[in-house]
Amino acid sequence: MCGIVGYIGKRDAVPLLLEGLARLEYRGYDSAGVAVTGKSGGIRTVKAKGRVRELEAQVPKRFSGTTGIAHTRWATHGAPSDENAHPHQDTSGDVAVVHNGIIDNAGDLRARLTAEGVGFASETDTEVLAHLIGLSDADTLEGKVREALSRVDGTYGIAVLHAAFPDRIVVARNGSPVVLGLGDNEMFVASDVAALVRHTRQVVTLDDGEMATLQAGSYRTFTTEGSRTASAPTTIEWDAETWDMGGHDTYMHKEIHEQPEAVDRVLRGRIDDRFATVRLGGLGIDNREARAVRRVKIIGCGSAYHAGMIGAQLIEELARIPADAEPASEFRYRNPVVDPDTLYVAVSQSGETYDTLAAVQELKRKGARVLGVVNVVGSAIARETDGGVYVHAGPEVCVVSTKCFTNTAVAFALLALHLGRVRDLSVADGRRIIEGLRRLPEQLSEILKTEEDIRRIAAEFGTARSMMFVGRVRGYPVAREASLKLKEISYIHAEAYPASELKHGPLALIEPEVPSVAIVPNDELLEKNRATLEEIKARSGRILAVGHQDHPIADETIIVPRNEPELDPILLGVPLQLLAYHTALVMGRDIDKPRNLAKSVTVE
Ligand code: F6R
Repeated sequence: MCGIVGYIGKRDAVPLLLEGLARLEYRGYDSAGVAVTGKSGGIRTVKAKGRVRELEAQVPKRFSGTTGIAHTRWATHGAPSDENAHPHQDTSGDVAVVHNGIIDNAGDLRARLTAEGVGFASETDTEVLAHLIGLSDADTLEGKVREALSRVDGTYGIAVLHAAFPDRIVVARNGSPVVLGLGDNEMFVASDVAALVRHTRQVVTLDDGEMATLQAGSYRTFTTEGSRTASAPTTIEWDAETWDMGGHDTYMHKEIHEQPEAVDRVLRGRIDDRFATVRLGGLGIDNREARAVRRVKIIGCGSAYHAGMIGAQLIEELARIPADAEPASEFRYRNPVVDPDTLYVAVSQSGETYDTLAAVQELKRKGARVLGVVNVVGSAIARETDGGVYVHAGPEVCVVSTKCFTNTAVAFALLALHLGRVRDLSVADGRRIIEGLRRLPEQLSEILKTEEDIRRIAAEFGTARSMMFVGRVRGYPVAREASLKLKEISYIHAEAYPASELKHGPLALIEPEVPSVAIVPNDELLEKNRATLEEIKARSGRILAVGHQDHPIADETIIVPRNEPELDPILLGVPLQLLAYHTALVMGRDIDKPRNLAKSVTVE
């Protein structure tokens, strides 16, 4: 959410910054801006409401410099506009700041600064920071930034330019990611490696409370109090092509089609046939501790929460430990009882989601043991947790999650199998689940081959003004996720309900213009689900069934290969990703960048 990028070196910074912004656009896309230290010493900025391409069109021909910072915004304080776009400057124009995060006490600081005669050019919280830096008496840019930061409460990843210090960019992190990219006599900084990987694979990820000075030939990291820190560079494991569209028209399409390979990756090297279990090296709990777990509580947001719901079901079924999932955003505000015998699991693709991170921090403060099921290696949540399972889905660029959702559900199957096998899951059941896991990549490929059929169904059902998604027990999280996917990218209203709850109210909504998507696996609840289909049909509702056999009562059925019942939810949702995709495509939506949204929600 909001992307920052910076460059200092010998090359013209502007094209590098614009390219970096384009790669970070999934983090926010309502306005963008760039600032460079010009040859004459002063700072020049260009800002524009809209996408990076709109900014690009407004950058004058002679706008160049070898040091610069840039930003792509997802609005928090102040509507999307040219004025509210970053970089923000102080009154003198000597300071330029780009910021990802939220300054909680911006209102107070703004009132105080206004009383002192400072004029504001925007409605943003970030501008406060620019003025505080500009007004600081410290001798160095590092000192000025440090002094300003000591007055703000909130989260930030910032990059700062100052006309009086043209040889450096100063950056700082608290709660929002900042990654340094180390080049040959040039340095980069960005919110995400996606913006760096074309130029360097050597990176340093700042910790919360850390700052850095970037100069063309060197970098230095230190705490916000000024003590030096030792930040060793690491190598980015993915190559630059991973971030390309690879012949697909959208990242979402690419990422849906990457699922067989991604699932293969999350399984690779982890299956232990000898003991009919899995090896999860990073879990950080031994078998004795795993046996002592009395309850599992899973927290995450959005699709991660839905994957956590599948995870809870798997853990209850395979390990027979009571488990449930809850939105992290709710959990952290309801002062939950933190129980030493409960294993907490935080789920996140980005590893940055602020609500999830804050919930983890709160749990840790209260002495809980928290595992992470995370995609981005080394991300804030991965670092904050005591251990966990990496999801290995690879970079997910589309704002809406697809392959990461599926891989997260598979990672939970691994965790559930591991916990089950150290408790009372039999060898035979362990083997059965392992065989099921091994079948997943092939079965995913089979599902993806049905895309043409799904495209046709999308054209038929996609004209609805509202849609109902229903599923029972294992099918319910699938219905939730499918309904979220549809509304996010098509903007069609969609509701998800447990199939059993339909008759307790929502049946009132059923009419021909409100079709239902029913998740109907051939499990022990098949007959109950058939009854639901009858109830919908009796109210003239159109039905799309997703299951393991044809359902003549439904207007359309998507048949998905059958796996073990516990693992079926992993497959049942995949055709519905394609349904959402093709519905949005027919409607001409901006699929990778749906309106009002951004990936990596680093604000509350
Ligand atoms: C939906 C989607 C979001 C994210 C949520 C959590 O398609 O992508 O609902 O799942 O914002 O993000 P992470 O997983 O990065 O914590």
